Amino acid sequence: MASFSLTQIRGRNSFTGVALNRHRTSLARPNRVGFKVFASENQGEPDLSVTVNGLHMPNPFVIGSGPPGTNYTVMKRAFDEGWGAVIAKTVSLDAAKVINVTPRYARLRVAANGSPKGQIIGWENIELISDRPLETMLKEFKQLKEEYPDRILIASVMEEYNKAAWEELIDRVEQTGVDAIEVNFSCPHGMPERKMGAAVGQNCALLEEVCGWINSKATVPVWGKMTPNITDISEAARVSLRSGCEGVAAINTIMSVMGINLNTLHPEPCVEGYSTPGGYSAKAVHPIALAKVMSIAKMMKSEFGDADYSLSAIGGVETGGDAAEFILLGANTVQVCTGVMMHGYGLVKTLCAELKDFMKQHNFSSIEDFRGTSLQYFTTHTDLVRRQQEAIRQRKAIKKGLESDKDWTGDGFVKETESMVSN
Ligand SMILES: Cc1cc2nc3c(=O)[nH]c(=O)nc-3n(C[C@H](O)[C@H](O)[C@H](O)COP(=O)(O)O)c2cc1C
Repeated sequence: MASFSLTQIRGRNSFTGVALNRHRTSLARPNRVGFKVFASENQGEPDLSVTVNGLHMPNPFVIGSGPPGTNYTVMKRAFDEGWGAVIAKTVSLDAAKVINVTPRYARLRVAANGSPKGQIIGWENIELISDRPLETMLKEFKQLKEEYPDRILIASVMEEYNKAAWEELIDRVEQTGVDAIEVNFSCPHGMPERKMGAAVGQNCALLEEVCGWINSKATVPVWGKMTPNITDISEAARVSLRSGCEGVAAINTIMSVMGINLNTLHPEPCVEGYSTPGGYSAKAVHPIALAKVMSIAKMMKSEFGDADYSLSAIGGVETGGDAAEFILLGANTVQVCTGVMMHGYGLVKTLCAELKDFMKQHNFSSIEDFRGTSLQYFTTHTDLVRRQQEAIRQRKAIKKGLESDKDWTGDGFVKETESMVSN
């Protein structure tokens, strides 16, 4: 906050040939972002490109933080396959404190009689944030930005409840040239024991304080990643945006226990006979994620307007249709994590093709043409009752007879006569 500096970076996106504009400033929001969220214009084929918080992406598909963004090799692969942006695995200052266990995944399948060959619909993980040294991760971010200057690389960060630690982490991550920062306020397992992740995202007073530290230090756009393990996710999203974040991302995983092995009587995933609740993801969480994203989108629309702030939707995306649903609720970008773990990086090509098919079917030429369109159809249950009673009243009124003699028809003549008989 103290010093004022503004650097405008202009480049060219070789992927799409569209000019890239990004502002950086150390002022409080919204000055870090010089551009509104908009989609570019294109004729003919539907245009999937989006510009979010000033960051241009060839398509709205973003690698969600997790195993698909753990190191240089896999992030490079994501760029090569055509992902719109990559969010790296969450980093913290001291990776030595991060100790993972194996097995750390457990999957839920649907098939007759619980066949082990059924389709995977749910995925639990008890994986922590990155256990690789921060220095190594930072080197790799730098290398990726040097090799892919026009592609969007987003760092995911998490720290303990300590202002100096957060400031150091933000500063070191930014020096690599990453385009934005996603803050993990939402990891449900392991990290809350150190007052990290969901421990911050579930406590709005803490969230406001930590967001304040981060946003007065950061000079690139910041997205707060929200936990669904909270009574009202829109409250945490509101606090993040009011505390200076340019965007919110939702959802992180849902607190879960995958199951109890009925032979051994031990819970899964089983580590030396024991387990701990983990985070649930994949197809099974998609309906829950839709509800959470809808709630955040409604709040953002009514309290923040459409300008400048962005929403990145996450949860169970495996098809272009899954992504279209999130965009119809107002999402600017759509993240995929478990889907990549199951189908590989080439999934982005299917996602793009299917999203284009959906757009062609409705004559949408850009993402912005349909973003948020379905949000208006959500209302309260009380309002649903009122609407239905009104519709029934109108139908009954019609049944009671014809309004005028001109309304008699040939095909419906007998029914029309019946409708006017009193007994
Ligand atoms: C194995 C695994 C590890 C994850 N690690 C992180 C992480 O380090 N940071 C983070 O913000 N989210 C992490 N996530 C959460 C995902 O980014 C995402 O929010 C969640 O899985 C829901 O999306 P999905 O159904 O597309 O996976 C992880 C998810 C999985 C499955």
